[in-house]
Parts: sequence; structure tokens; C-alpha cells
Amino acid sequence: MIAPSLLSADFGHLASNIEMLNESRCDWFHLDVMDGVFVPNISFGFPVMEAIKQFAKKPLDVHLMIVQPEKFIDQVKSLGAHVMNVHQEACPHLHRVLQQIKDAGMKAGVTLNPSTPIGSIEDILELADIVMLMSVNPGFGGQQFIAHTIDKTCRLRALIDQKKLSTLIEIDGGVSRLNAAQLYDAGADILVAGSAVFRAPSPIDEIDLIKNATLA
Ligand code: DX5
Ligand code: ZN
Repeated sequence: MIAPSLLSADFGHLASNIEMLNESRCDWFHLDVMDGVFVPNISFGFPVMEAIKQFAKKPLDVHLMIVQPEKFIDQVKSLGAHVMNVHQEACPHLHRVLQQIKDAGMKAGVTLNPSTPIGSIEDILELADIVMLMSVNPGFGGQQFIAHTIDKTCRLRALIDQKKLSTLIEIDGGVSRLNAAQLYDAGADILVAGSAVFRAPSPIDEIDLIKNATLA
């Protein structure tokens, strides 16, 4: 699956960008919320996501790069989000937060920064519908893919399979048609792509190219 990140969209023409994605083969819309505290940047919040929701015809994958994400479970639910992704590093009570997200009727995603080991979520893996591995340090689009994510994806896949779980693996940061096949082969299920899609001459064609790369 492909989830384009709207962080790299043209915010002056958000509606037409979303309508273009509605016509593409992308699967989810990835929404990056940054608070300037958990990450050194601020992106957008609920008013903008409400506007996105008006046009979006695909499930919303909300990635909260914020401290205390548990405060916003009800608001993310009201948005109609399919997935609420919280960072392991932002949640001292991760077990409780994931359960609360599921109780609210959303898919619970837990995200790991590049420096956070897989072992840190081993004990709550049963509760996670999705584990998202950051393949850049969160905060900005357009950064270079951290190659060590390939090996990390293999190790996470092995752990999920060993536990006989159906947890999906999502990869976020620096994803393009150049590394999509490697990530897919390593066990990734969902690829987030921001700049690779929106900086391409034809974002719709680029989504096809990324998808087709995983089938080669
Ligand atoms: C980074 C965000 C990503 C970002 C991906 O902090 O979480 O979703 O938008 O953008 P690219 O694909 O350009 O790395
Ligand atoms: Zn993201």
C-alpha cells in the first residue's frame, strides 16, 4: 500500500492536490502533525485536517509527532481517522494509549524513531495494528532515507511472524521508487511517500511507479 504524505503537497491548492490523489492508486492519505516540541518543526493541526477530510475519499492515516498524543484521541476519532499513529518515545504509558485508540474504534499505530530499538515495543506488539518505522528523523519532508531501516524492517517482520501476529509494517521517510522494492521484500506493508510523490512531474504516475516497483 502507498500512503502519500500531504506534508509535501501544495498548501495553496490543497483541494486540487487531494482530488488528484483521489484519482490515483494510492491507498491512504498520510497526515503529519508536528507540535514544535516533540519534533523541531510545526506543520498543521485539526482545522486543516478537517478541511482535508472534506475532500479526501481514502482512509486517513494520522501521524502525531507531538507530546502527549493521548490527549487528542477523541479529536482524531471525530476526524474519522482510520489510523492514529503515536510515537513510542512520546508515550510512557504506551500500552494504555494503544488500548484507548482501539477502544475509540481506530487502528492503533505505534511509531519508532530511527534510534529506537524494536525491542522497546516487543511487549505491546499484540496491541499494535501497525508499527511504523521512521526511516528519517521526524520533523521534515525531503530527507535522505536511512539505509539501516531495511535491516530493521526484516527484524520487525521476523518478530511479528514469530508471534503469529497480523500487525502491519509501515515505513515513513525518504521512501521512493528507488528503495520501495527493498522495503517490500524486507516485509513492509505500507510505504509513506511525500516528496517523491509531490516533487515528481506527475504524482499520479509516480504512485504507479512506486507501486509497480514492489511487484517487479
Ligand atoms: C517526516 C514525516 C514524513 C514525511 C515524509 O517527519 O513523518 O511523513 O512527510 O516525507 P518524505 O517522503 O519527503 O521523506
Ligand atoms: Zn509521517
